[in-house]
Amino acid sequence: MTDTALVIFTPSGKRGQVAIGTPVLAAARQLGVDLDSVCGGRGICSKCQVSPGFGDFPKHGVTATETALSEFNAVEARYDEKRGLKPGRRLGCQATIQGDVVIDVPPESQVHKQVVRKAAATREITMDPATRLYYVNVREPDMHEPTGDLQRLTEALIDEWELPGLTASPRLLAKLQTALRKGEWSVTVAVWQDHDKGTPALIDIWPGYFEGRLHGLAIDLGSTTIAAHLCDLRNGQVIASAGLMNPQIRFGEDLMSRVSYAMMNPGGATEMTKVVHEAMDTLARDLAEEASIPADQIVEAVVVCNPVMHHLLLGIDPVELGQAPFALATSDSVKTRAAEFGLSSINPDAQGYMLPCIAGHVGADCAAVALSEEPYKSDDLVLICDVGTNAEILLGTSEKVLACSSPTGPAFEGAQISSGQRAAPGAIERVEIDPITKEPCFRVIGCDLWSNEDGFDAATAATGITGICGSGIIEAVAELRIAGLMDAKGLIGSAEATGTNRAIPDGRTHAYVLYDGTTEGDSLITVTQGDIRAIQLAKSALYAGARLLMDELEIDHVDRVVLAGAFGAHISPKHAMVLGMIPDCSLDKVTSAGNAAGTGARIALCDISARARIETEVKRIEKIETAIEPRFQEHFVAANAIPHATAPFAELGKVVTLPDLSFNTGPGGETGRRRRRRA
Ligand code: FES
Repeated sequence: MTDTALVIFTPSGKRGQVAIGTPVLAAARQLGVDLDSVCGGRGICSKCQVSPGFGDFPKHGVTATETALSEFNAVEARYDEKRGLKPGRRLGCQATIQGDVVIDVPPESQVHKQVVRKAAATREITMDPATRLYYVNVREPDMHEPTGDLQRLTEALIDEWELPGLTASPRLLAKLQTALRKGEWSVTVAVWQDHDKGTPALIDIWPGYFEGRLHGLAIDLGSTTIAAHLCDLRNGQVIASAGLMNPQIRFGEDLMSRVSYAMMNPGGATEMTKVVHEAMDTLARDLAEEASIPADQIVEAVVVCNPVMHHLLLGIDPVELGQAPFALATSDSVKTRAAEFGLSSINPDAQGYMLPCIAGHVGADCAAVALSEEPYKSDDLVLICDVGTNAEILLGTSEKVLACSSPTGPAFEGAQISSGQRAAPGAIERVEIDPITKEPCFRVIGCDLWSNEDGFDAATAATGITGICGSGIIEAVAELRIAGLMDAKGLIGSAEATGTNRAIPDGRTHAYVLYDGTTEGDSLITVTQGDIRAIQLAKSALYAGARLLMDELEIDHVDRVVLAGAFGAHISPKHAMVLGMIPDCSLDKVTSAGNAAGTGARIALCDISARARIETEVKRIEKIETAIEPRFQEHFVAANAIPHATAPFAELGKVVTLPDLSFNTGPGGETGRRRRRRA
């Protein structure tokens, strides 16, 4: 009998000879296999579970007998009795190798497990969080060899986990003494260590083996809304999500008005920092409550935001961002205590991370979109538009990526729209208008039926029909154009010119009645000329930004377009194209990525190697400044028409024919008559 055996681990396929009697956990470490452990092989945590395979494995050239692993030992039997092991499972730290064997490491036992994302199932998040749990036995104090409790804890962490130089806050030093004695010198510690492998920091400590879980927050701090996900740091699962309006809106709706507020009002920046901190903390508390977890088990927070939000969150006056050359206080990633983000209700020692900014107008939110959508790995030319109050735009391939931001304003989020509201039950989110009858039908959030289907009234009785959200207004305006109720300049025709009483006078202009619920005590929901103007300004800014990047690469066509943003997943590509929000592109090449900035924050929360990756990639992304570029203004003006004054939109023309008409009743204008197409 040989004194070594062949061990093959799946799914990694790693294989090698190990000495007979080696525990599976030790064999995994020798062969570089990813097998988890919190208790360091003491048979307490069960994170090291494996499934051995017995029989013939021709693929691996191995025959494994039932005796290839040692028999169930007392530790496993006790664990099985108390907590239950799934059939066929063994504890890797207890079972030893006795012969050739194939061992499967189930996903939940992998440290760097891959979690498939729902929104984009083709990509995965690797789990490698900065904060982890370690169970250690600490040497008892000795009067003759005096050392501190922290020093002996550090010694144990070096011996068992190769974690040198632990630091601890005074709060934790106080907690450490009690925990060590209560746990009879065994404790579980949460230790944070970032991707630069710098000094590890103690985040929390519990006597004995800690059964709980660690959690982190991924926060997308937008100018209009703040969205946060509470994630389980073991498997990346989002266990609760919530959103709030950014309370800074009362100081100015867009970024520049907030910068102006800070400039004009002494203490204005501090005031804005204070309100956003309060909102962040409210969100964190709400999420902990919703998930029924103690708030102090939230040990990390990753925040992505634009540069102005970045500065205001960190208590930095954003005045420099309001004037050329738009200098950031720092463009690098920020590592700090999460309390600096206003998160005072979570674990007091929780760590915070902000992704790097790309430039003075292109922030960590754009870096997060890049991390999520990876244009720097793309073979084809991809245009990524993160649509919000400020649009972040990326264009490029694996060779080169350009970025810019464009001030779209809050119209796409339903603000500045007469019947606008945020995406909530009761809000109109989809619209269709019959080009013959000019009658609309729509769907509201919270109901799967269209308004012309049976049962719609009953199904929406509880929520009512309350307004139009961002995706709804985009579809409504595009449908008005398709149905011939609005011309290319964005003018809504009169009842006489359009042939429908839904076109009603509204001052000196016209509005289109989408829903009249006034007789039932509901609202009158119209699309007004002012709404269209707001959408035109927003979409022109978005298009002009994208076009500027295309000029820079000297191209007229992109291979694909990714729409991102809180409501990106809900924008219909056809309607976005009819509106001329994005450059012409084959419609089947326009996809939605949902909240890509939020996803990027989640990736950075779950995987420290992603932090390292984006910090490197951001330095390669070339920034184009829209604010001082004269061509931006030219593109903006040309993009005011719907879809565009000069660009042919040939791909769009293959699927939609837009009526050629004009409702301009001014001097020299026409009156709703169809014009002869110019040759
Ligand atoms: Fe903890 Fe095996 S390593 S039970």
